[in-house]
Amino acid sequence: MKKVILRNARIIDFPRLMFLRQDKEVSENLEHSSFVYFLLEIWKIITFNRPIRKVILANNQIIGIINLTKPKNHSSEIGYFLGKNYQGKGIATESVKQMVQFGFYKLKLNKIYAYCDPKNIASQKVLLKNGFIKKKNIGGKKFYFEKSIKNKVK
Ligand SMILES: CC(C)(COP(=O)(O)OP(=O)(O)OC[C@H]1O[C@@H](n2cnc3c(N)ncnc32)[C@H](O)[C@@H]1OP(=O)(O)O)[C@@H](O)C(=O)NCCC(=O)NCCS
Repeated sequence: MKKVILRNARIIDFPRLMFLRQDKEVSENLEHSSFVYFLLEIWKIITFNRPIRKVILANNQIIGIINLTKPKNHSSEIGYFLGKNYQGKGIATESVKQMVQFGFYKLKLNKIYAYCDPKNIASQKVLLKNGFIKKKNIGGKKFYFEKSIKNKVK
């Protein structure tokens, strides 16, 4: 696996991120199209609902992004994607590990959670390998996973 580095995302990173998520195999597992995604990100900035966003870097190149929503009651939702050419190399598993540590130790979160399509086996594996626990189905459409401060040490 390549060395994975997370750094705070900047507005100038978004054209590259939009390009990566245009790929059908990436976007079909994400809620919004590339363009809607960009508009929503701008909206979050304007409304001070800004998530903690970190781009995923390998060999100094942006290959994906990982987010924690703005914490509420010490709780935050995690989300991520990687460009198609960078998948299947353990990079998401390592990125989630780093972001979870950041969330618990730097942001002092008590709980990190994620929603996932039942068909998205790769994402479910990423969460399970990071010690997330599958709790329940949300309306039968999405799986819900969470990791709490009590099980933060894997
Ligand atoms: C989900 C995603 C982030 C996983 O990234 P990744 O770097 O490929 O994941 P990893 O390499 O860490 O692999 C995690 C596990 O999933 C497995 N996996 C990868 N692709 C798979 C697939 N299509 N079907 C089944 N398992 C798969 C890997 O083999 C690995 O399991 P293992 O450790 O038992 O071998 C990536 O596929 C992606 O960006 N998808 C599109 C966006 C998305 O789905 N985001 C999450 C929304 S909830």
